[in-house]
Amino acid sequence: MLILAFESSCDETSAAVVECGAERFITKSNIIASQVETHRLYGGVVPEIASRAHIEAISSITYEALSEAGVTMADIDAVAVTKNPGLIGALLVGVNFAKALAAAYKKPLIPVDHIKGHIAATYLDREKMPKPPFIALAASGGHTAIYEVKSYNDVHTIGTTRDDAIGESFDKIGRIIGIPYPAGAGFDRLAKEGFLETVGTEAGYFDKYKRSADYKDAALALPSPAVKDDSLDFSFSGLKTAAINLIHRYEQRGDELPKARFAARYTYEAVEAVAKKLGMALDAHPGYDLIISGGVAANSHLRCRLGEIAERRARQIYLPPLSLCGDNAAMIAAAAYFEFLDGNLADPSLNASAMDAL
Ligand code: KG4
Ligand code: ZN
Repeated sequence: MLILAFESSCDETSAAVVECGAERFITKSNIIASQVETHRLYGGVVPEIASRAHIEAISSITYEALSEAGVTMADIDAVAVTKNPGLIGALLVGVNFAKALAAAYKKPLIPVDHIKGHIAATYLDREKMPKPPFIALAASGGHTAIYEVKSYNDVHTIGTTRDDAIGESFDKIGRIIGIPYPAGAGFDRLAKEGFLETVGTEAGYFDKYKRSADYKDAALALPSPAVKDDSLDFSFSGLKTAAINLIHRYEQRGDELPKARFAARYTYEAVEAVAKKLGMALDAHPGYDLIISGGVAANSHLRCRLGEIAERRARQIYLPPLSLCGDNAAMIAAAAYFEFLDGNLADPSLNASAMDAL
């Protein structure tokens, strides 16, 4: 079936057409209008500006998505839209547009959870569809959570951050050391320079880093954001505060912060905490494969380290291509397919919600 999907939960307006079948999802088009340049001026997303930009973009990207896919509304079998979680004003733009389109063209309307969408990004355009059960990580600007995916539609949280999200922490600390918003990709590159200076980035560099002089350097010491108990929870606010204090101490001493080595150390703590908790989750769920999703799934160090923890346990790891880590509508279409199969359709009373629901 052909699904036309919309995503507008944060600062990307996206429309996609995806051919969804039991064995394969084929992306026909996936148009993404990013607002990053607009929000960069403010160092982060301004919700009111985001809503207005979604309104301006959504009609034209819908035409673009249909024309790039070579189809018209007559060919579309169902309309899907992100209904939660996200910025409420931003979500409402997509939800209302999708509702109107579905009503006007008499198509079924499929509401989709944004996180189920991120997870489903790993199902797109593969020769063979990954088969549950999975342990899934969603790591983004708003989420650092671990999910048990028993079946495509049975997804529930088994661990989460108690305060800040991993992407938000990269963005905030990145901004302090002069990387423009969103800082994740720049932080990734800077950390790579730091790892190259100390241990290189050849196979096993994470393990080597732990034995390096930089790891033992008290001036660069940072705490782990893995909560020290049996839970699968994180706390990134402590790491963030410690990093800010570390930067201040360099300033007070009149020393120049070794930015690349600092970024490597910060990345080490963030990635290692995620690897530790995912390792615990995999050990507690024998036979489950691993899915990594969300904007931070683009992080090269995270991808490398989590590949190792899956391989050590002989589990398969599914990572979205870099182009599908961030917010996009193709992933919403993929998740929508399974909602459709379960009969989870919406009527015109559908409303958006800012809240997590998994
Ligand atoms: O999933 P996403 O596009 O939007 C949300 O739902 O939040 O994730 C955006 C987040 C931002 O915090 C951005 O800095 C981060 O993903 N990000 C990265 C990388 N690329 C994007 N974080 C670390 N390393 C990257 N390479
Ligand atoms: Zn997202």
